[in-house]
Amino acid sequence: MTTRRDFLSRSAMTAAGLGAAAMSQPSQAQLAESVKQMQPPKKPVIITRDTGDRTIDEAYKMLLDGADTLDACDHVCLAREDDPNDHSVGYGGLPNEDGVVELDACCMHGPTRMAGSVGALPNIRHACLVSRLVMERTGHIMLVGQGAERFAVMEGLKREDMLSDEARKMWLLWKEDRNSHNFWGPPLSSPQWKEPSPPPTLNHSAIPRHPGPEWAEVIRARSQQLMGMASDLGIPPHERAFAVEQVLWPTTGTIHISVLNTKGEMSGATTTSGQAWKIPGRLGDSPIIGAGCYTDQDVGSAGATGSGEENIKVAGAHTIVDCMRQGMTPKEAGLEALRRIVRNYNGDMNKVRYLDMIYYILRKDGAYAGVSLWSTTASGKPKVFCVHDGEKRVENCAWLLQGTTTN
Ligand code: GLY
Repeated sequence: MTTRRDFLSRSAMTAAGLGAAAMSQPSQAQLAESVKQMQPPKKPVIITRDTGDRTIDEAYKMLLDGADTLDACDHVCLAREDDPNDHSVGYGGLPNEDGVVELDACCMHGPTRMAGSVGALPNIRHACLVSRLVMERTGHIMLVGQGAERFAVMEGLKREDMLSDEARKMWLLWKEDRNSHNFWGPPLSSPQWKEPSPPPTLNHSAIPRHPGPEWAEVIRARSQQLMGMASDLGIPPHERAFAVEQVLWPTTGTIHISVLNTKGEMSGATTTSGQAWKIPGRLGDSPIIGAGCYTDQDVGSAGATGSGEENIKVAGAHTIVDCMRQGMTPKEAGLEALRRIVRNYNGDMNKVRYLDMIYYILRKDGAYAGVSLWSTTASGKPKVFCVHDGEKRVENCAWLLQGTTTN
């Protein structure tokens, strides 16, 4: 039987417990208020994909010299777009299924709260500049396709073929390999999607878009065959393994960069050639403000590289910035966005294992995180990102799931 004394003493204990918990755990309102009060860091901070690129140091120097934060972002993006050896962006990017390079990019400028975006842009090298021109020179936020191309030319950018000789040969390899997958048919997220079953023999060599481990021997044989074809097509030896991988499992390389200066000004930019061999006209997450990039200098900035379709569905960059607004750390906010991606598949690892995603996250006080869906690359190396806060370094990403994507 509970006596009045028991009840009172239990109530007092509970109240004391609640009081201690309340004191140690700030309320949501307090957390949000603490974000508002955060001060800018003493030194600028840059967060981006690890490209081993000296332009990240140069962008940092620009920030120290007082350059605009979006100019610093563009400095890094422009160099990537110029690099013919970077097959994920700009000139040399891998084309769509028709052999046409279509670029996606967007940017957000914190100080003016302006944004611009361009999608499926053909024949123009610097998608990041076009997205900025859309932002600065039009009353629109987003232009796509031939309209975007015409706009860029009218603004003085040069029309040129974006298909480098090496990217063209890689496309030929994909095209000539009649067993390569394409992007037609029900997607992973469709109830009609079926897990591929193993082939009866090695001769049945059409590797499905998402093969399980039972395909290992077929993949080995097919890779060997494709390496021979790559050699015949004149793809240089150092590019052959990459080309074969892109034929078997086309990827979505991208550059995102978020930047913060000591005045608390922030900008973010994302640029990409998108999914290799995509259906013409496909837009990924990179041109979508709030998915591939989102910047609010009252809170922070974030961007993404990885499975664009998945990131669009969770509005990844906006979700992250909004979670930070409510008091989450950059790492917690990134993990929350990743959990929403996994939630979209009801946690079904037979599907989630085909996805990949890294978020690059910067808060207005200089706190940062790189957060990855998976802990490692296919070769077992940790997923990494690059940060510069006076010293440029590569750090391991925090991650949601241990292991690697199957894709
Ligand atoms: N994340 C780049 C893309 O999906 O196009």
